[in-house]
Amino acid sequence: MASLLIKNGRVVTADSDAVCDILIEGETIAAIGKNLPVQADEVIDATGKIIVPGGIDPHVHLDMPFMGTFSSDTHETGTRAALHGGTTTVIDFVLQKQGHSLREALAEWQGRATGTAVGDYSFHMAVTDFNPSTKEEIKDMVAEGITSFKTFMAYKGALMIDDAQMVGLMQEVRRHGGLVTAHATNGDMIDTLIAQHRAQGKLTPRYHYLSQPEVTEAEASGRFADIANYTGVNAYIVHLTCEGALNQVRRATERNQRVFVETCIQYLLLDASLYGDDFEGAKWVMSPPLREKKDQQTLWAGINQGLVQVVGTDHCPFMWEQKRMGADDFSKIPNGHPAIEHRMELLFSEGVSKGRISLQKFVEVTSTNAAKIFGMFPRKGTISIGADADLVLIDPEKKHTISATTHHMNVDYSGYEGWELTGKIDTVLLRGKVAVDAGETKVGRGYGRFIRRGPVNY
Ligand code: URP
Ligand code: ZN
Ligand code: ZN
Repeated sequence: MASLLIKNGRVVTADSDAVCDILIEGETIAAIGKNLPVQADEVIDATGKIIVPGGIDPHVHLDMPFMGTFSSDTHETGTRAALHGGTTTVIDFVLQKQGHSLREALAEWQGRATGTAVGDYSFHMAVTDFNPSTKEEIKDMVAEGITSFKTFMAYKGALMIDDAQMVGLMQEVRRHGGLVTAHATNGDMIDTLIAQHRAQGKLTPRYHYLSQPEVTEAEASGRFADIANYTGVNAYIVHLTCEGALNQVRRATERNQRVFVETCIQYLLLDASLYGDDFEGAKWVMSPPLREKKDQQTLWAGINQGLVQVVGTDHCPFMWEQKRMGADDFSKIPNGHPAIEHRMELLFSEGVSKGRISLQKFVEVTSTNAAKIFGMFPRKGTISIGADADLVLIDPEKKHTISATTHHMNVDYSGYEGWELTGKIDTVLLRGKVAVDAGETKVGRGYGRFIRRGPVNY
C-alpha cells in the first residue's frame, strides 16, 4: 500500500489547530502527530501551509436538464473544477420527472456520473411528484445511500410540489430517518409577479430580481419550517439569501426546532446592484436572486451565530449563449451561476483573511457541517485517523486573480472576473492521491467515487 507523509503543515479541523505531520496509507489517514518517526514512499513539505479537510459542496447541478437546456458542466468537468478549488466531494441533485419514478431518475443520473466524475460525489433525490408509488420508493433511496430529499416550493409545472405533497413526503422521510431540503420560495407569488412584469413589457434581467422579493423567500421558509416542525422531520433550507428568511429560522429556534441552513458564496459577496439596465445582469440570474447589503450582513452574522451551518454554491452554470435564450425576456434566462471552483478561495479570502470568520468556522461551513448533516462524517469532513485522506493545502498569503480565461469550469464567463484574492489552494488530495498540484490535475476521468450516505449525524 502506498504511503505519503505530509510534514509540518498547520492542520486545522473544526475543533483543533496544530502544526503537525499526517501519514497517509492507501486512501486513508493512518497517523497524525508532531515529527512522526516514520518513513513514507513520498513526502510533501507543508511548512507555511494551512491544511484543511477536503471541501464538501452539497449544492451543485451538473449536466442538469433545466429551462430547455442543460447546465454546462458535466460530472467530469464540474468535479475537476471543484477539485482545483479544494472541493473534493459534491452532492448533485437527481431530478424526478413528474409522472415518472425516482428509480428512473436515479438511473439517468448514474448514467451520466458513473465512470466520468473526477472527484467524489453523492446525490440528493429531488421529489417533484409525491404520490403513492413515489412514497414506496423513499426507503429504496435510503437503502442506496441517498438520505436527503429535495423539494422545490417554486418552478410550478416543472419541479414544484404543493403543501399536501410536502406533508406526505416529510412524514415518509421521517419514517426512514432521512432529511428533507427545500428551495423555499413562494412559487405562486413569484409566477404572478413574473406575469405582471412581462405584461408591462418589463423584460430585462433586473425584473427577475424584482419578481422574487424578500417576502417570497421569508414566507416559504417559515412555511417549510412549520410543516417540518409538525411532521418532526430533519429539515434543511438550501440557498437561503436574506434576513426575512433567516428570521423565520430564528423563530423556529424559539420552539426548540432546529432547521439547518445553507447559504451560498454569492449571497455573501455579491448584491443586487449588479442587476443594471442591460443584459449583463443575466450573469447573476439565479433563484433566489442576489439581495441587499443588509442581507449579506445578516448572513455573515448568521454564520457566526451558528444559524447558518453550510456555505455551498448552487453551482448551475450556463454558457453565455445559453443565457441569451432570455435576451428578450428575463423569464427565459436559464437560472444559475458558476461557482464550484472558487467557493473555498473566495470564502478564505473574503471571510478568513478579512477577519469576518475564523479559520475553524471556515472548516465547519465548507466541509465538516455538510459531512455531519448529510451523513458522511467522519469518513469525510475532518482530518482524523481512519478518515478518507481528502486534504487541502492552502498558501495563506498567496495572491491570485479569478478569470474565465484560467478557470476550469466549462463556462465562458465568471461572476467574479478580475477579483484579486488572498490565499491560494496549492495542493489537493482526494482519498490519498494528489489530485491537484500547482494548478495541474493529477487524477483522471472516473477517479471520483459515489459516496453512500447515512442519517444526519450533527
Ligand atoms: O438559479 C438556480 N438556483 N438554479 C438552479 C436550480 C435551483 O433552484 O437551485
Ligand atoms: Zn433552488
Ligand atoms: Zn440549486
